[in-house]
Amino acid sequence: MTQHVSIETHGACVDFPIFDAKSRSLKKAFLGKAGGSIGRNDSDVVVVEALKDITLSLKEGDRVGLVGHNGAGKSTLLRLLSGIYEPTRGSARIRGRVAPVFDLGVGMDPEISGYENIIIRGLFLGQTRKQMLAKMDEIAEFTELGEYLSMPLRTYSTGMRVRVAMGVVTSIDPEILLLDEGIGAVDAEFMKKARIRLQKLVERSGILVFASHSNEFLAQLCDSAMWIDHGQVRMHGEIEDVVRAYEGPEAASHVARTIAEIAAEKAGVARGEGA
Ligand SMILES: Nc1ncnc2c1ncn2[C@@H]1O[C@H](COP(=O)(O)OP(=O)(O)OP(=O)(O)O)[C@@H](O)[C@H]1O
Ligand SMILES: [Mg+2]
Repeated sequence: MTQHVSIETHGACVDFPIFDAKSRSLKKAFLGKAGGSIGRNDSDVVVVEALKDITLSLKEGDRVGLVGHNGAGKSTLLRLLSGIYEPTRGSARIRGRVAPVFDLGVGMDPEISGYENIIIRGLFLGQTRKQMLAKMDEIAEFTELGEYLSMPLRTYSTGMRVRVAMGVVTSIDPEILLLDEGIGAVDAEFMKKARIRLQKLVERSGILVFASHSNEFLAQLCDSAMWIDHGQVRMHGEIEDVVRAYEGPEAASHVARTIAEIAAEKAGVARGEGA
């Protein structure tokens, strides 16, 4: 059904022109530890080169985790793959319905109730009102917010809002799921429950691209990793190998253990053990 789902980019670059940069002293391209390189374009305007020459091809079933330093270009790449950003040079072709989950707060209105926000946020993620109404009871139960769902969202704590957002996000059936971390802010008990739902969401998604600084999370949701370094793809392969190259042997063996644990857990579930 979702065979047509694919993402392809060829030599895609994303530059951000910074017209108010104070950069008399900026003579040559600067490459710091964090952030993309800063240079100048043909019109001598200072630009942040957030992505450089990205060529990739993703198809149905691909689950890619993005790793890389702060400012490497992970979030920018997700925005390129969602169609929010057009490449400055090169091309990006996206086939399939995209559910961008970059900021759990987007599409939430503090003045309307939790219930109403569930519908609004669902619409933002490409669902219909009817689909959201059909899922309402199940989402409400997941959030454990009870009567609060009838109250305006401004009366919620941060974690309570995240529960609403997570409930909605994990209820949809996306063709292309683009996740940018920030999925924290909920208490540990709830996170356990949310992880299982997140895993199921990923299983029914066509393509997943997930940016995260948590290797454990990557190991759980993805089957390959892509290392983004100063706006370029440095490596794409097995999660363990990419983490070894990016972070070293200790982090890699932690990933290997996590993957083994998940596999054992899945085998246990398949045999009907545990809950
Ligand atoms: N709207 C913008 N305007 C100007 N520069 C931007 C903009 N968004 C991102 N950048 C720059 O693009 C580069 C890549 O940023 P991006 O947010 O994609 O990094 P990231 O890999 O997601 O980092 P992090 O791990 O910190 O989330 C950085 O140098 C950043 O300063
Ligand atoms: Mg980011």
